[in-house]
Amino acid sequence: MDYSALQAELRTLAREKNAVILAHNYQRAEVQDAADFVGDSLGLSRQAAAAEANTILFCGVDFMAETAVILSPEKKVILPELRAGCPMASMVDPAGLQALKDKHPDAAVVTYVNSSAEVKALSDICCTSANAEKVVRSIPADREIIFTPDCNLGAWTARQTGRDIILWEGYCPTHDLIEPSDILEAKEAHPQAKVVVHPECRIEVSLMADAVESTSGMIRFCREDEAQEYIIGTEAGMIHRLEQDVPGKKFYLATRNAVCPNMKLTTLRKAVEALRAGEPVITVPEDIRLKALLAVQRMVEIGR
Ligand code: 13P
Ligand code: SF4
Repeated sequence: MDYSALQAELRTLAREKNAVILAHNYQRAEVQDAADFVGDSLGLSRQAAAAEANTILFCGVDFMAETAVILSPEKKVILPELRAGCPMASMVDPAGLQALKDKHPDAAVVTYVNSSAEVKALSDICCTSANAEKVVRSIPADREIIFTPDCNLGAWTARQTGRDIILWEGYCPTHDLIEPSDILEAKEAHPQAKVVVHPECRIEVSLMADAVESTSGMIRFCREDEAQEYIIGTEAGMIHRLEQDVPGKKFYLATRNAVCPNMKLTTLRKAVEALRAGEPVITVPEDIRLKALLAVQRMVEIGR
């Protein structure tokens, strides 16, 4: 399918409306190719905070657009598809987190950015898959830690840092379906390939990998590493990104089933229609935003 006319239309609209187009690494290839910046959650949060444009068209899922609003309330943040949520983010609710905090009143709450603004507002610091380890290391060794909502990222980070962490039982349904047997089969089919997985995978899958990285961390690793072939354990959209950014090397999905239906809801046509209409606009109540801002700012400042 030829997307060039729609891509040109989107670029023209972005110029006319002084908008910047941000796209996550899992977006459809034709959407990624029309964006100003494509990246992981941390990179996109930074772009949102630094953007000079007064409108952000966020091609991703709702918590990413909310994070952009938290960081840049003066900008209009448009999410082309309102139904694009994250099931993992929905697995933690403010009342449940408050109850856990009441049981551990001295614990620091580290919340993965894949969460609602209300949950962020109850947290001490947010993290992404790119900096979870650094964030946990920033907490004094004698302080308890509650980690929400991803128990896989939390368990991996506990292992990396040697910290005891109280885990919330959330998970990403897309990464959870990657099985150790998928990795074994892919290794049999591609014996020369290294294995690179996302820390949202189950811990037994992460333990089989040569590298456990955020989506943009995968690009860096595969670019700098000497191998020529990689088995990739994450959402399917990542293959397009790797092929663009690391030309000449070969990438194989650990399983073709790892498709995030929410990420795929944003089509190029919907992006064009949303930018033309100037909606749907994402908002966060100001009292929640101010509380969440502290945790999100700490996450951005701590870096990778
Ligand atoms: P990163 O791109 O930050 O690694 O996150 C992956 C993800 O699941 C986003 O929803
Ligand atoms: Fe959420 Fe998983 Fe989809 Fe990322 S891939 S948006 S964590 S469901």
